[in-house]
Amino acid sequence: MVVAAPAVRNPTPPFSTDEDGYMTCENVRIRDIQNDMDTSPMYIYSKEQLVNNYKAYEEALKGLPSIIGYAIKANNNLRIVEILKDLGSGAVLVSGNELRVAVKAGMDMTKTVFNGNGKTYQELLYAVKCGCLINIDSEFDLEHIVDAAKEVKKTANVLIRINPNVDPEVHPYVSTGLAGSKFGIRNSHLKWFLERIKEEDVLSLVGVHCHLGSTIKKVDIFKDAAEIMLGFINDIRSEGFDTLKYLNIGGGLGIDYERIGEHIPRPIDLINTIRPQLTEAGLTIIVEPGRSMVGNIAVFVSEVIGVKTSGSKNFIVTDGSMAELIRPSLYDAYQFICLTQPGGSIETFDIVGPVCESADFLGKNRTMPTPVEGSGLAVMDAGAYCYVMASNYNMKPRPAEILVDGDEWRIIRRAETFDDMMSLYDR
Ligand SMILES: Cc1ncc(COP(=O)(O)O)c(C=O)c1O
Repeated sequence: MVVAAPAVRNPTPPFSTDEDGYMTCENVRIRDIQNDMDTSPMYIYSKEQLVNNYKAYEEALKGLPSIIGYAIKANNNLRIVEILKDLGSGAVLVSGNELRVAVKAGMDMTKTVFNGNGKTYQELLYAVKCGCLINIDSEFDLEHIVDAAKEVKKTANVLIRINPNVDPEVHPYVSTGLAGSKFGIRNSHLKWFLERIKEEDVLSLVGVHCHLGSTIKKVDIFKDAAEIMLGFINDIRSEGFDTLKYLNIGGGLGIDYERIGEHIPRPIDLINTIRPQLTEAGLTIIVEPGRSMVGNIAVFVSEVIGVKTSGSKNFIVTDGSMAELIRPSLYDAYQFICLTQPGGSIETFDIVGPVCESADFLGKNRTMPTPVEGSGLAVMDAGAYCYVMASNYNMKPRPAEILVDGDEWRIIRRAETFDDMMSLYDR
């Protein structure tokens, strides 16, 4: 039998393969973590990569007044959010509970933005009390914010979410900035919004916001959007709104899921394309990275239950599934998969979980070493929109999350148990 080392294709430094063919995260062998844990599958995060990703944004924004508002929707693990807060990050939030996470992590509320097309009145009361920035998404949303601010007796600092109608050239499920999107105001109605804001002392218009979509691989798209948004800013300023100081360009930078060496723009490429316009307009920029902040900091690690063939197709069946990582099933998304330890002859497989759905797959047509039962399997780039979308489908408990820091690792969120799931029933 051929023994092939698992190759981490285009490794990002914290995830690599050691000389014996075992996958590592920082200075820890992933197989060692798997051997010590009594639950599988699990998510394993690299603190070093998280810090590096934050610093890349910080570096890119040097010289510009700015706020980095991490999009908590990408990964809401409290310990991850705390690390980002300690580095100086703010946040963008899309629910009242995400706002509670930001508060719990100790985030500076003047660096947080509460966003969403369906914010409830209770959520708005809480947001006004907290003093975070709030996006106006529609006529009804504006009225709810006014009512909440009057009830709390506090001024709400608001941004208007505008659709620049720029095509982000991504999967339709992650495209948000086109005219037909459910997010943002009707642009032709901007004047009505401005008049209405002028009427209300409890509102202070401090900025405009847009978010084009996610997994964007061309920075020109951000440049086009920024230019359109600056046009709106000029219109708003000419109506006498001299409190306007923020241009929030949202998140959306893609990451190298394919790991084939494609050029993916970095934060510095994004910021440099819009730097001259921002400087000229004297604006503070808000960026809201989610995927590009946490996507490549984690691997989803499962164990092989068995290998089988249908005659025409080979399958690796693992204990990880669409219940813990749904992106491949939901968006047909590609994430690179490799073994965490040496394997056998090179074959082509579909990698599937035990969930009772044909849509339950982690990868299709992957050419890789044949694993033995119990081998570790890693789905790369699993830090964003993976754990947060995990469900209990087929009664699968949500997995543990582990943070590696140099030579050390610890469980930052334990796996759910059967008893946890039972504890919600009335008796
Ligand atoms: C308003 C807003 N900001 C930021 C983000 C983060 O986007 P990404 O993870 O692509 O950076 C999202 C996600 O869709 C969003 O809806």
